[in-house]
Amino acid sequence: MKKLMKVLSVVLLGVFLTACGSKEKTTATGEKKVEKKVIKLSTKFVEEEQSAKTLHIVANKINERLEGKVEIQVFTGGQLPIGKDSMEQVVTGANWISVDGLNFLGDYVPDYNAIVGPMLYKTFDEYLAMTKSELVKKLNSDAEAKGIKVLSLDYLFGFRSMLTGKEIKVPADMKGLKIRVPNSQLYMLTLEAMGANPTPLPFTEVYSGIQQKVVDGLEGSLMSIYGTKIYEVRKQISLTNHLLGVSGIVISTKVWNTLTEEEKTIIQEEFDKGALYNTGETVKLEEEYRKQLEGYGVKFNEVDTEAFNTAIVDVFSKFPKWTPGIYDEITKELKKIREAKK
Ligand code: G3P
Repeated sequence: MKKLMKVLSVVLLGVFLTACGSKEKTTATGEKKVEKKVIKLSTKFVEEEQSAKTLHIVANKINERLEGKVEIQVFTGGQLPIGKDSMEQVVTGANWISVDGLNFLGDYVPDYNAIVGPMLYKTFDEYLAMTKSELVKKLNSDAEAKGIKVLSLDYLFGFRSMLTGKEIKVPADMKGLKIRVPNSQLYMLTLEAMGANPTPLPFTEVYSGIQQKVVDGLEGSLMSIYGTKIYEVRKQISLTNHLLGVSGIVISTKVWNTLTEEEKTIIQEEFDKGALYNTGETVKLEEEYRKQLEGYGVKFNEVDTEAFNTAIVDVFSKFPKWTPGIYDEITKELKKIREAKK
């Protein structure tokens, strides 16, 4: 009987360990040890950028609270695949967390592109309220059905504007300018509508790209412009605020489902806390960075916002894969959000 109980408990422990995705290993001294589960987190952000700093804090906190059962390893600055390739790691079930633009999620659930479309939001809060809406919750469950568990859509890094060699006031000023954009159809179509010649390029190649005249400038947030030191090669910021710089944090549902309830709760809690912290730091630092950039000789220019708003109107009708009527749904939701804030 005793023997049977022992066999049973070993079998049960085995089932438990398989369920939480951890493996048991016997050491040289015959000691049984649970092997920790290592999850790689890949991001484009360089160490000097706040988003990278926040991700380190989040990962450290998770690793500390899970006491070695799960270890999240952060790889910054595109040391590991980013963008499309990073998403592919997630959907193929690798032990991987991808942190990148929502446009890459849009390759799997096209409507993600619609919720980060051009000129939609006036404030960070409006976007953050949108990510809590039923509309976006539905997108998250569509993503889950495709093997993508969304941990957060709230890692903001600021509204994106133009960084060029000349002042831009109206779309006509963009004519002939080769502007670096992330490799995304949403960005290509938006910048085209704004009057530029968009050129997709990895961010790591922009600094030399400007020096070698591959591109004339770029569009990006103050956090990116400051953190990557790209302001060293271009000095005119024109405040178009055309798109919101925001990262989605995703993991494979396959991997997620191997974690225990406790592990899932801790990971989710820390990413949620990290998002709040990251937004607070972004708001604070944007102001500080603007002053510092002005000190480095960067000029900030106001643009004719109405003219750019008009220029991008057609972008929303250029995505055949979007759910018909999605733009109207988004604007209705935004109206609700704005009214609730009054
Ligand atoms: O470090 C790069 C990051 O700040 C911005 O990247 O591709 O969104 O322009 P991207």
